[in-house]
Amino acid sequence: MKSKKLVILGSTGSIGKSTLEVIQAHPGRFDVVALAAHSNVDLLIKQYEIFKPEHLCLVNENKEQQLREQLKDKKVNILIGEKELLQLVKLDDVDIVVNAIVGASGLKASLETVSKGKVLALANKESLVCGGALFPPLVKKYGAKILPIDSEHSAIWQVLTCGKENEIKRLIITASGGPFRNLPFEKFSTIDVNQALHHPTWSMGPKITIDSATMVNKGLEIIEASVLFSIPTEKIKVVIHPQSIVHSMVEFIDSSIIAQLSRPDMKLPITYALFWPARVLSDFGELKFEQYTELTFEPPDIKKFRALKIAYEVAEQSGTAPAIFNAANEVAVQGFLDSAINFLKITDIIEDTLGKIKVVSQPNLDDILDADKQARNWAKKLLKG
Ligand SMILES: NC(=O)c1ccc[n+]([C@@H]2O[C@H](COP(=O)([O-])OP(=O)(O)OC[C@H]3O[C@@H](n4cnc5c(N)ncnc54)[C@H](OP(=O)(O)O)[C@@H]3O)[C@@H](O)[C@H]2O)c1
Repeated sequence: MKSKKLVILGSTGSIGKSTLEVIQAHPGRFDVVALAAHSNVDLLIKQYEIFKPEHLCLVNENKEQQLREQLKDKKVNILIGEKELLQLVKLDDVDIVVNAIVGASGLKASLETVSKGKVLALANKESLVCGGALFPPLVKKYGAKILPIDSEHSAIWQVLTCGKENEIKRLIITASGGPFRNLPFEKFSTIDVNQALHHPTWSMGPKITIDSATMVNKGLEIIEASVLFSIPTEKIKVVIHPQSIVHSMVEFIDSSIIAQLSRPDMKLPITYALFWPARVLSDFGELKFEQYTELTFEPPDIKKFRALKIAYEVAEQSGTAPAIFNAANEVAVQGFLDSAINFLKITDIIEDTLGKIKVVSQPNLDDILDADKQARNWAKKLLKG
């Protein structure tokens, strides 16, 4: 069987590393053509030694010398900087581009991938949140495919094989509720970085872990699902399911609800995307029901997790509003991780920024990038103030 040629953007992150583990678990099935990271030279070199890609890209130009020096005797094409990263998705003879970059920095690579008519295995939800309406016409025009890696969207994608588009009543996205589901709101101002980085069921990169604690992540996922499955956000419901076993569900018009269940392991949705349209035997992810005797569901508390309510409003408003929401959040999360603001201030900054930056209703890419920049500038001022 011919191996699939892969480009992995964000290979040194949580999803990137899990993707490489999946590849190692299936020898001969994948050929890693290129790897890209932002700054983590040491890990990128370790990955190079194992997977021997033809191309390596590092976005952080300050680390160029270190990378070139350490690989000076190796036969590898080294690319440096954000623009060069886009060259990777244009390479001929690439079957799948995995976008595991964190944040809006992944947007251009996703747009470039679909504009080349390639298969995009997408973890970078911020691409769809910010790029929104730009994606569907490009996918159609160039015959590209977007395969979700986000576990909730993978679940929905798998379940949608059970019915037709006009038979869908609503999507039900599950959320663990994060580490502060049971914490009284009065204590939210005392939450510190270590507590917020301690997710009860998933092990992930720092940004998405904080997003899960504020429930911004679920807000981003509603918008992501709306773009991915062409469904209005009023037909997307969020349900708290603390055990993270049911990854999401679809309710069909006959009132049947169909769900996808598995242990919480990102290697499962990654494997599904990489092998799609086939399923393969996997030796991880067995769900032992004796360990999970109780699966519970409850509505989200939008008084405590205001960001979720704001995300619905932003999705409704559309245009550049989701990009503003996302940019303000990225700045605020970094501010929280740097201990510059407290936990509650993350949502305050998002709300304040949305009130400040003008929304363009039918944006092109420049409008989106401009909204992102304005929102970041404003949010940074709020961090200081
Ligand atoms: N982790 C999960 O379980 C999970 C689940 C669902 C969805 N996702 C989504 O997947 C994406 C990645 O999440 P993660 O948790 O894997 O993040 P992460 O662990 O922080 O990794 C981020 C990766 O992106 C690279 N990167 C950072 N800034 C970049 C830039 N400007 N240009 C190019 N590369 C850049 C990093 O490189 P360096 O290491 O060199 O800094 C790293 O390889 C996010 O959109 C997240 O929402 C993650």
